[in-house]
Amino acid sequence: MIAIGSDHGGFALKEEIKKYLDEHKIPYEDFGTYSTDSVDYPLIAEKTCAAITSGKCDKGILCCGTGIGISMAANKIKGIRAALCSDYFSAKYTRLHNDANVICMGGRTIGPGLALELVDVFLNTPFEGGRHARRVEQLMKLEEK
Ligand code: RB5
Repeated sequence: MIAIGSDHGGFALKEEIKKYLDEHKIPYEDFGTYSTDSVDYPLIAEKTCAAITSGKCDKGILCCGTGIGISMAANKIKGIRAALCSDYFSAKYTRLHNDANVICMGGRTIGPGLALELVDVFLNTPFEGGRHARRVEQLMKLEEK
C-alpha cells in the first residue's frame, strides 16, 4: 500500500500520479490535500508519513510546489527517509543505497512525464543492502541524537 499526499502546490501532480497508480493497479491511500485551496505542507507530510511509520503503508509519495518543504517535514519524522528527486538516477539510487521510503517531488519544478518515471523506478527498485545497510543503520541512529 502506498501513502500519497501533497499540498496545493503539488496537488495537480499528485492527481497525475494517482492516475498512474490506478492504471498499474497499485493500491494507495490519499492523505490530501483534495483541492487547490492553500494548505500547510507539514501537516500533510505528518498525516501521510504516519501511515508509513504505523506499518499501514510501505512507501510514500509526497508533492509540494518545490518538493523541498514537504521533504524537510517528512525527514523530521522518526522512521522516515524521504528523498527529494528530480532526476532518474537519484530516484533509483535512493532506493538502492538509502532505502528511501518516501519520494518527494515538486509540482512546480518537474512535469508529470518525468514524475511518473521517477515514481516507477522508485517503486520498483529494491534496497541493495550490504554496505549500504550499515550506512542506513547509522543514518537512523542519528534520530536518537
Ligand atoms: C506553497 O506555496 C509552497 O511554499 C509549497 O508548496 C512548497 O513549495 C514549499 O516548500
